[in-house]
Amino acid sequence: MTPPGPPTIRTVEGDARELPGVRPASVELVVTSPPYPMIPQWDESFRAWGAPDFPAMHGRLAEAWAACHRVLVPGGILAVNIGDALRSGPEGFRLWPNHVEVARACESAGFRPLPYILWKKPTNKPNAFLGSGFLPPNAYVTLDCEFILLFRRGPLRAFPRSDPRRSASRYTKAERDRWFSQIWTDVRGIRQAGAGRRTGAFPPEIPRRLIRMFSVVGDTVLDPFAGTGTTLWEANALGRNAIGVEIDPALAAVLRTEASVRSTGPGRT
Ligand SMILES: C[S@@+](CC[C@H](N)C(=O)[O-])C[C@H]1O[C@@H](n2cnc3c(N)ncnc32)[C@H](O)[C@@H]1O
Repeated sequence: MTPPGPPTIRTVEGDARELPGVRPASVELVVTSPPYPMIPQWDESFRAWGAPDFPAMHGRLAEAWAACHRVLVPGGILAVNIGDALRSGPEGFRLWPNHVEVARACESAGFRPLPYILWKKPTNKPNAFLGSGFLPPNAYVTLDCEFILLFRRGPLRAFPRSDPRRSASRYTKAERDRWFSQIWTDVRGIRQAGAGRRTGAFPPEIPRRLIRMFSVVGDTVLDPFAGTGTTLWEANALGRNAIGVEIDPALAAVLRTEASVRSTGPGRT
């Protein structure tokens, strides 16, 4: 068998709902974190999408999940990191359950829901509770978990017997025990930075684990909301090809430059 060439990184400036230049059934794994509906940081993104309210925001995201379904191979996996939101609406303060809407939309797009992960973010403000102090019943439970929702396109992926790419991608028992338990408590969040504004980047450990859990060496990993490119750099470091789609021209330009540096870096020809 011819050994695979060095992994490639491709970045595209475009809309996650269209995934321009990404061929149908050409991606084995999607790892992504979209703009979160009802979080003020992303209001502008959704306004630009013509989505002023919660149902419309999820309507736009649903089109992106349908596009992911189109480009995944049969048996390919979609992993979506999403958090719920707390915010006042016309009827007052309430929870906006983003994970429910994403799960519903992905199932409508044709995905099979799989057991998901709760990422419990360590907080440096353990006593920051919302609500009425020590008097019941009007205090609120703290939202300190995000979801990593998992879906598969159709049946299990098939591999040739003793596929060397699959055995080269093996994880250890210790990794399996930690990664496949439902609550992740050992992944720290990261300080949000990037050209003086918050980018919503996730810690590299999140895509790193998901890529090792749900793809093999030589696969193609897509992030349709690529942001600062965390998924792409981790995929590349793990011997997977990477494709990133990003709508923000400034971020897309940074991704392009970084991808070309990494593609021609040490050890590459
Ligand atoms: C939560 S951030 C992703 C951060 C990324 N995981 C990282 O580690 O940097 C969401 C990204 O989606 C981008 N975005 C928003 N709407 C988009 C669209 N329609 N198509 C593609 N990207 C979009 C935003 O500009 C932002 O960079």
